[in-house]
Amino acid sequence: MKETLFSGIQPTGELHIGNYLGAIRNWVALQETYDCVYSVVDYHAITIEYDAATFPARIMNAVIMLLACGIDPRKARLFVQSHVPEHTELAWVFSSVTPMGELGRMTQFKEKSEQHRQNVNAGLFTYPVLQAADILVYKATRVPVGEDQVQHIELTREVARAFNARYGAMFPECQAIVSKARRILGLDGKAKMSKSLNNYLGLMESPEAMWEKLRVAVTDPARKRRSDPGNPDVCNVFTLHTFFSPPGEQEYCAKECRCAGIGCIDCKKILWKNICAELAPIQERARTLQADRKSVEDIIADGARRCAITAQQTMCEVRHALGVRW
Ligand code: TRP
Repeated sequence: MKETLFSGIQPTGELHIGNYLGAIRNWVALQETYDCVYSVVDYHAITIEYDAATFPARIMNAVIMLLACGIDPRKARLFVQSHVPEHTELAWVFSSVTPMGELGRMTQFKEKSEQHRQNVNAGLFTYPVLQAADILVYKATRVPVGEDQVQHIELTREVARAFNARYGAMFPECQAIVSKARRILGLDGKAKMSKSLNNYLGLMESPEAMWEKLRVAVTDPARKRRSDPGNPDVCNVFTLHTFFSPPGEQEYCAKECRCAGIGCIDCKKILWKNICAELAPIQERARTLQADRKSVEDIIADGARRCAITAQQTMCEVRHALGVRW
């Protein structure tokens, strides 16, 4: 019996190589080892202001990109969070065993309530409770996440402990799997890659558009002229090489950079070639799926159906433990 693994991604619109390296590529690899449940978490995304009219397109796009990147519905259950209402039902139960003080300590809550001062709603505050419900409704024990989510996984363990202490052993204590590509910096080499900062390479961008962005991407700031030797250790473009380029080309670029044998443009061209080679088949699959919405709808309907079997079973146990059923 494989261990159950859960992870979720917000439907942010255009996905970029930061999402790909930080999450999706690992999700694909983990499908071989675990019983994977992957969700597009639409109900988390409504805690900040968003456009309801374009939300369906964002959700569908996220599903399509996950499939295009290699999430295989025969290996993993792929679904949209709101299609399995037990998530929100369990979140309500969990909110009654979660201390307010714990939620107030969450870094993401503090950051988001700074960023969205005009809309600090209760959903933003209880966001980690819904996340705990996402994971525990499947009694998942493994959760691949970025570094910024580790605190929420710790909270999930506390929620499980609090529930078990009050109602009897039901939920396991889950462990985060923190990916190596914890924090992919944007092309500015400074901030985490994000859509809002416009420092990203989108997964669906054309090779030409990607080159225009890569060409001006920040490298080793101390390397001012072509004749200056550079330091790959502090170069964000080199970091991207470590994720996209074969070892031989990584070594070549590092060595030739240190002795000014090649310039930043040469180095970027090699990176560009490798990124394009990895993304080309993904883009092709995405275009095929975009033209075949019916299959995509069928895949998430089937994913939700298979998730509901587990989620309904858990909720049945929970209701009995709570004493609202007998
Ligand atoms: N909060 C996560 C993020 O912003 C997304 C998410 C929601 C999630 N529910 C989850 C991740 C459950 C892991 C497990 O990235």
